[in-house]
Amino acid sequence: MSVKITINHVEQTKISSYDIENVEFGKVFTDHMFSVDYIGGVWQNSRIEPFGKIALSPTLSALHYGQAIFEGMKAFKNSKGEVAFFRPMENLKRLNTSAERMCMPQLPAEIFMEALQKLVKLDEAWIPQKLGSALYIRPFMFATDDFLGVKQSETYKFMVYACPVNAYYNHYLKVKVEEYYTRGAKGGAGSAKCAGNYAAAMYPTMLAQKEGFDQVLWTDGATHTFLEETGTSNVFVITKDAIYTPELSDTLLAGITRKSVIELAKDWGKTVVEKHISINELIEWHETGALLEMFVSGTAATLTNIELFSYKGKSYQLDMNIDLLSARIKAEFNAIRMGDIPDRFNWMIALN
Ligand code: COI
Repeated sequence: MSVKITINHVEQTKISSYDIENVEFGKVFTDHMFSVDYIGGVWQNSRIEPFGKIALSPTLSALHYGQAIFEGMKAFKNSKGEVAFFRPMENLKRLNTSAERMCMPQLPAEIFMEALQKLVKLDEAWIPQKLGSALYIRPFMFATDDFLGVKQSETYKFMVYACPVNAYYNHYLKVKVEEYYTRGAKGGAGSAKCAGNYAAAMYPTMLAQKEGFDQVLWTDGATHTFLEETGTSNVFVITKDAIYTPELSDTLLAGITRKSVIELAKDWGKTVVEKHISINELIEWHETGALLEMFVSGTAATLTNIELFSYKGKSYQLDMNIDLLSARIKAEFNAIRMGDIPDRFNWMIALN
């Protein structure tokens, strides 16, 4: 399928108003955005227009019943000025998995890739080059029926916008292991990247932040004794024996950075175990000295270390003055993304 995208350029780029190498995460957006509409069972009217507000009806289905899903991905500019996307097809796969769970239509790969290629080509000058920075790309889909009543929408919009970013976190994290609230329940929508999951996490996260924590470390909804993920990322635990991460299920997000950490660590000959990790086990590892590191992984968060976790009011501090394996993994990701070493996993897709 060839995708015809109509392009309406900005009259004047606004890039000179910003220092794109030094922006606050999520505050600055590039000149253009992509949109396509799903009407009568067909994706149509693919277009790139100046980034800006869109008109919505107060009855818009997504605003009331929450059929809204999104992705987070990045494009990088290496030292030679070449641009490449990091594992974009993984984002498309996950978008379509979320779409299925939310009763939304599948987005064809041709539309997704053509939208990314054309939009990023047009706004290529906005991609920062500093180590650790990137062009964050936000593909998202939402229901657009104007109708009062709970039913799946018949019409949808898929859009993409982009923003130059630096690190989402610039410090180690303190996390609170959640004992009451639930992010994802068995049979629920925890593995879908849907807006509602983030909305539902905000209140418990606010409570944790009031107590001085950066994030909630979610636990399973049934017993609140097994680790799941944080509100922005997956979680890893490194002991003297192995690298552990909670196994995937319908309660947590299948992170693409998570998957990449696992692939790289295995390539390095490390033992990686995807399993249920109980909080008692984690505390025991801490108390016996077996626990070396904990970190979160995500597109926005990249790899960020946890320096402290708290459970039932007791804090457990990690020793941050060690040779952190997570720092080596992060450095290898950066080297692959910046083209400093060969992309042996074929993760990068070049901008045409
Ligand atoms: C991402 O990592 O891309 C996310 O979607 C999470 C959010 C913190 C921006």
